[in-house]
Amino acid sequence: MKVYIPENKRVISIKDYEALELQSLVEINEFADCLETGLAYGQSACYILDAASKPRLTSCDPFQTEDYDNIGLKNIQNNGYADRHTYINDKSELALPDLIKKEIKFDFIFIDGDHKFDGAFIDFFFAAQLLKPNGIVVFHDMWMRSLALTYSYIKNNRKDFKEIRLHSKNMTAFRKIGSDERDGMHFREFYSSRSLIRFHINRLAWENDTYIGKLINSIKAILR
Ligand SMILES: C[S@@+](CC[C@H](N)C(=O)[O-])C[C@H]1O[C@@H](n2cnc3c(N)ncnc32)[C@H](O)[C@@H]1O
Repeated sequence: MKVYIPENKRVISIKDYEALELQSLVEINEFADCLETGLAYGQSACYILDAASKPRLTSCDPFQTEDYDNIGLKNIQNNGYADRHTYINDKSELALPDLIKKEIKFDFIFIDGDHKFDGAFIDFFFAAQLLKPNGIVVFHDMWMRSLALTYSYIKNNRKDFKEIRLHSKNMTAFRKIGSDERDGMHFREFYSSRSLIRFHINRLAWENDTYIGKLINSIKAILR
């Protein structure tokens, strides 16, 4: 399998070892029906589709043509996976409720689309309803505050989901182990300051053209 990603855009895609861990989750559990939010250059999509269980995958992303020159779709096509792939050219917050209405269910859902808190949180809200019993949802970019708070919400409020430990620090996974039994008054606080410092350091490093950003990236390179 070959996934073409323009050299200066690699940072957008998940890392090879993360993609391999997604693939192995799909393989070990022999999952057949997968969904992802956020296609980009198709790194996660190709690795999921390459799993030995030969799963079907639905990807939703409204910016494939506009921002990615359809490279994600071309990678899927060039690797021969197109017959097991469905592309939804829409925002996940609109596409996922539509899938719920159609009563389509998934074994595995990878959330890597809109990384704002409301985007990630609402992706989980719908993913929880789309997952089959024992299905798995995985999040990427756990260093981000938005994802850390989504994680904390699930840990504190969703007893129907159990965390699965992963090797990749920047991803987290939950298995759906029951049904949502909360009553309408249920609410557990979930604000967490964990990851706050890591988030701000990474955020400064992300802005590589500033002095402080360059400094942090040089220190990171030395530590590596
Ligand atoms: C970090 S990239 C995804 C990387 C991809 N999973 C991979 O492994 O290569 C985030 C993607 O989310 C998409 N995106 C942004 N907002 C979205 C939304 N509301 N619904 C679905 N996708 C969205 C972007 O167009 C972008 O392709």
